Amino acid sequence: MAQAHSKSIVLGITGGIAAYKAAELTRLLVKAGYAVQVVMTGAAAHFVGAATLQALSGKPVLTQLWDSAAGNGMTHIDLSRAADVILIAPASANFLAKLAHGLADDLLSTLCLARNCPLAVAPAMNREMWDKPATQRNLAQLRQDGIAVFGPASGEQACGELGMGRMLEAETLLIELDALFQPKRLAGKRVLVTAGPTYEPIDPVRGITNRSSGKMGYAVARAAWEAGAEVILITGPTALTPPPNVRVIQVTTAQEMRDAVMREIKRSAIFISVAAVADYRVAQAAQQKMKKRDTAPTLTLVLNPDILAEVAALPKPPFCVGFAAETEKITAHAKTKRAQKSIPLIVANRVQDAVGQDESELILIGAHGMQTLARAEKLILARTLIEHIASLL
Ligand code: C5P
Repeated sequence: MAQAHSKSIVLGITGGIAAYKAAELTRLLVKAGYAVQVVMTGAAAHFVGAATLQALSGKPVLTQLWDSAAGNGMTHIDLSRAADVILIAPASANFLAKLAHGLADDLLSTLCLARNCPLAVAPAMNREMWDKPATQRNLAQLRQDGIAVFGPASGEQACGELGMGRMLEAETLLIELDALFQPKRLAGKRVLVTAGPTYEPIDPVRGITNRSSGKMGYAVARAAWEAGAEVILITGPTALTPPPNVRVIQVTTAQEMRDAVMREIKRSAIFISVAAVADYRVAQAAQQKMKKRDTAPTLTLVLNPDILAEVAALPKPPFCVGFAAETEKITAHAKTKRAQKSIPLIVANRVQDAVGQDESELILIGAHGMQTLARAEKLILARTLIEHIASLL
């Protein structure tokens, strides 16, 4: 999801093979609207060329603390004051150790120590280096010092070994970075989100589903995580990549979604039911593929459980938020649903404007009235919705 930023970032690159990914990261940061100043350590220059990063960022790459061209000779102060955030990607084990101990012996480590803006690191190293007590000690210290640690991921490493220490991909780092700037209105809260369509089988190859893409539900899950919540995303079949740091439970049918929700709901403070749950399923799905005949078959449908209504009727329900996608009389239908399901908040949208699209327009309908959120990207709307929910809690 592309977003317009007007933020300045210092992208610090340290010595590791993952430095090659910094080129793609620079490109994505620039595309997202960040003004990027690349600063490299001496070791990083062995892995990736300054000319590449200069071309992608549109600015000369800095490496030297002793820059005679800098008017006041204080590049480290100037750079850190101009930045809204500093991201070190990749952050080598050596650089993490330097940060943990406040060492400042080159431009990058010095500007980190001199900073007055948030600092994030994306570690990348061999799994043995990652596992060493010294590295883990340093990471614990960095976290305690308020430094954000993005990743690493587990998987195949450049050295051929398998384990923890792969730098997160550039797309994921951008998502992590965005989250850094969001207010933590739901810190410590557990949020359950349902998303996507459900699929109700007719036989092993056919089924009943709907046109929900899952985009709104995934955006709500991401916005809740950005706000500091522990998020569980229960999703029907979609083609989307779930946001990072969200626990995902994949389901197919409404009944499976209901069972997953009821299993996970107990410790959740908020339930946001964005999924387009099929209202009916085939009474008896065929075990074998139904053969074509001369006469059309009759399908007997039965009602699916209403998950949201069931959760709202629990003795101690979480704060429940429903979604109502309507083709006509949008607010009237949504108000009726809010009343029928006894929920404090329902979010109405027009099917024609929302389903499958990257943007939507929402109407929040609560006990104290209505609020319209003008057409915008679903992530932007989701952030506003999360703010609204936090203010109602
Ligand atoms: O009843 P209706 O489908 O119109 O209401 C929409 C809201 O109810 C959505 O929040 C949807 O996730 C939820 N719902 C549900 N279980 C169903 C049908 C809808 O949780 N069987």
